[in-house]
Amino acid sequence: MPDPSASRLIIRRPDDWHVHLRDHELLQSVVGYTARQFGRAIVMPNLSPPVTTVAQAAAYRDRIRAALHPAHASFEPLMTCYLTDESDPAEVERGFEDRVFAACKLYPAHATTNSEHGVTDVSRIRGVLERMQRIGMPLLVHGEVTDPAVDVFDREAVFIERVFSKILADFPEVKAVFEHVTTAEAVSFVESRGANVAATITPHHLRINRNAMFEGGIRPHFYCLPVAKRERHRLALRRAATSGSTKFFLGTDSAPHSIGKKEAACGCAGVFNAPFAIESYAATFEEEGALDRLEAFASEHGPNFYGLPLNEERVVLERGPCRVPERLEAGREEIVPFHAGEELNWRFKGSAAAAQAVP
Ligand code: NCD
Ligand code: ZN
Repeated sequence: MPDPSASRLIIRRPDDWHVHLRDHELLQSVVGYTARQFGRAIVMPNLSPPVTTVAQAAAYRDRIRAALHPAHASFEPLMTCYLTDESDPAEVERGFEDRVFAACKLYPAHATTNSEHGVTDVSRIRGVLERMQRIGMPLLVHGEVTDPAVDVFDREAVFIERVFSKILADFPEVKAVFEHVTTAEAVSFVESRGANVAATITPHHLRINRNAMFEGGIRPHFYCLPVAKRERHRLALRRAATSGSTKFFLGTDSAPHSIGKKEAACGCAGVFNAPFAIESYAATFEEEGALDRLEAFASEHGPNFYGLPLNEERVVLERGPCRVPERLEAGREEIVPFHAGEELNWRFKGSAAAAQAVP
């Protein structure tokens, strides 16, 4: 149990089990923020065109590795396969066996950014789900219905009834991650299922409720999908993340979009939280009196669920002011990071071995 007033926290290097690293120039600009903190990351496949084949995922992984600074060479991108109505069980299995695909991502068609090629009806991918269940391949689920008749704030809860429950009724053993949960209903659903069902929780859904989007005017940098919900849901997420339950783990859903694409008449969904992700989680865990549970949430529950080894390296977080810039450069554009203009009270200092060497 770490001393609550301790000035340093040393934990296993964390992993990010849900991130959007984008491609080309934007990839080059953002990948270092993730690679600086995390040992591995589950990289979302919603590029345009999406990553649907083993060859595309291997090529994308090469581009990510090529974009890494030499200091981050040990960072391991874990690739995902974007499921479509046409996904082929044999291709999915081949990618998993060849260790190119770590998981498959289910986007309901039109649920979010670049999801137009997503699955129109889960009945179309029964063969893939059957195969994934058999080989123990994780299914990562964007859990929102797209029915325009359903209120935006209810789409996650309705997805549980209409879709997720049915997937698990038909494939009770499939390893499934309810990605970026935002509601008390999703937390209860995950808690009520066996060890094969888990969830990721983002830094921003732990810190903001839906009021943040409307404070004194429209605040596009707090708009993401699934959209932030009422305060009672935020509190349920904080309880789940800090409970010590092995079913909940770190997934930032960092989703960078340029200022121009956010501050627009029809702005993009996504919060860019990668630059200060672990600092943000540390602030939340400290406020909840649960700093001693940060390591399990950030560095143990994820790899244990995926069946991967824990990172052996330790990293240091130091207590002290950490100022978040208003904007960060990304190629020829700028992006507003989560916590812009705020001061956080933990700073990520990198590898414990390296930090020790500094007097
Ligand atoms: C993500 C993006 O921009 O790619 N946006 C978001 O609001 N989270 C897509 C997603 O994960 O839904
Ligand atoms: Zn996402």
